[in-house]
Amino acid sequence: MEKNKKQVVGIIGLGYVGLPLLINFSKSYDVIGFDSDKEKVDLINAGTSPIEHIPSSDIKKIRTKYSLATTNFSEIKKVDAIIICVPTPITIHRDPDLSYVINVVDQIIPFLQKGQLISLESTTYPGTSEEIIGQKVQDSGFEIGDDIFITYSPEREDPGSKFPIQDIPKVIGGITDKCLNKGVEFYSNVFKTIVQVNSVKIAELSKLLENIHRAVNLGMINEFKIICDAMQVDPFEVINAAATKPFGFVPYYPGPGWGGHCIPVDPFYLSWKAKEFGLSSRFIELSGELNLSTQNWVLNKITQSLNDKKLSLTNSNILILGIAYKPDVDDARESPSLNILYELQKRGANVDFSDPYFSKLPQTRKFKINKDGTELNPKNLKKFDLVVLLTNHSKFDYEMIYENSETIIDTRGVFSIDRKKIIRA
Ligand SMILES: NC(=O)c1ccc[n+]([C@@H]2O[C@H](COP(=O)([O-])OP(=O)(O)OC[C@H]3O[C@@H](n4cnc5c(N)ncnc54)[C@H](O)[C@@H]3O)[C@@H](O)[C@H]2O)c1
Repeated sequence: MEKNKKQVVGIIGLGYVGLPLLINFSKSYDVIGFDSDKEKVDLINAGTSPIEHIPSSDIKKIRTKYSLATTNFSEIKKVDAIIICVPTPITIHRDPDLSYVINVVDQIIPFLQKGQLISLESTTYPGTSEEIIGQKVQDSGFEIGDDIFITYSPEREDPGSKFPIQDIPKVIGGITDKCLNKGVEFYSNVFKTIVQVNSVKIAELSKLLENIHRAVNLGMINEFKIICDAMQVDPFEVINAAATKPFGFVPYYPGPGWGGHCIPVDPFYLSWKAKEFGLSSRFIELSGELNLSTQNWVLNKITQSLNDKKLSLTNSNILILGIAYKPDVDDARESPSLNILYELQKRGANVDFSDPYFSKLPQTRKFKINKDGTELNPKNLKKFDLVVLLTNHSKFDYEMIYENSETIIDTRGVFSIDRKKIIRA
């Protein structure tokens, strides 16, 4: 990178991860955002945020000499560093789907310039940076570590959290020492703490470990809550008591299952790779089983609660509160709410939903139900036999919900179970 010019960063994939990076990197560099979604690119260029919890004012503040967002990959020629943060989903058979990453690499290769840094931030299995990106770049005639520098730096963004991105320590691994040095030099202008590791594989695995740790603990705590329920003890009170221990305990809170683009997906990148070494990853498989069976347990609780009122699931009126997979975000990817809503509807219930972040039910690959959200007010709440709280958004008026609901199934520990009408699930 030339010393006297302001360096330019290209960020590819302007989603939940890439858009905050574009905003953040623009404080130190000129930026160009790349996305294949023309509608999203147009919105961003018009200064409108496509993501609820990212304010449009943050996009309007970005100052750059270049087009803020584009679908035109020839602009890659202008940048000094390329950050890739496109989706890394799994297939229905839980195999890694790297097609987005591969597609991006194929699109940028014709425009690569000597001296550029490529840093992958998408979550993936160990070996991706070297075996896929490195190999393709090398096959196109560049020397890794001399012409093109390749690093992996896992994204640790927590959508909806107020934790400043620049304060999150940045792990970086490089294919060669020169790659690592280039990456460290680049990222240290933005992040306060840089954590250099000895290989790209360590960096790739560190992200998987973080998410596997969360997935396994969520499975454990969801199982724990089912045991507590059988003993008629509130698991949230138990967790809060245990969490007073000042060392050696990390509190995890149960819910209706697991959700989001990361936790139900990423661990299977490691179990897939482990098979190559003849190894199985039993904790990962078990966490999948436990977190998914929690949804069925919640469904049983719903049926049982209706039964106690001498009602059947068929033709009962149920309101789901919260479609997003976690509080205060507009992201419903892999959300257990969608599974639960779909199952209830399939079994004959009349199901409505309310979520401050969704006026309509989001359409996903699996669920294509056309449904508008229900306005939360006393009159509407009184229409339902059961209100099921699945996502504890802070925008919900919980006292109004309590006052006007007949029975509430609370999967998030919002209401004390000592109150009438509350069923913990
Ligand atoms: N969302 C999170 O909380 C989070 C946190 C840490 C890491 N990650 C990881 O970051 C990566 C991105 O996740 P996300 O949540 O930002 O995804 P996202 O779906 O919100 O955004 C991805 C963006 O990439 C764009 N895109 C897809 N293919 C493209 C292509 N060929 N060229 C250009 N743009 C393309 C899409 O249009 C979309 O705007 C994933 O690997 C994910 O596992 C996500």
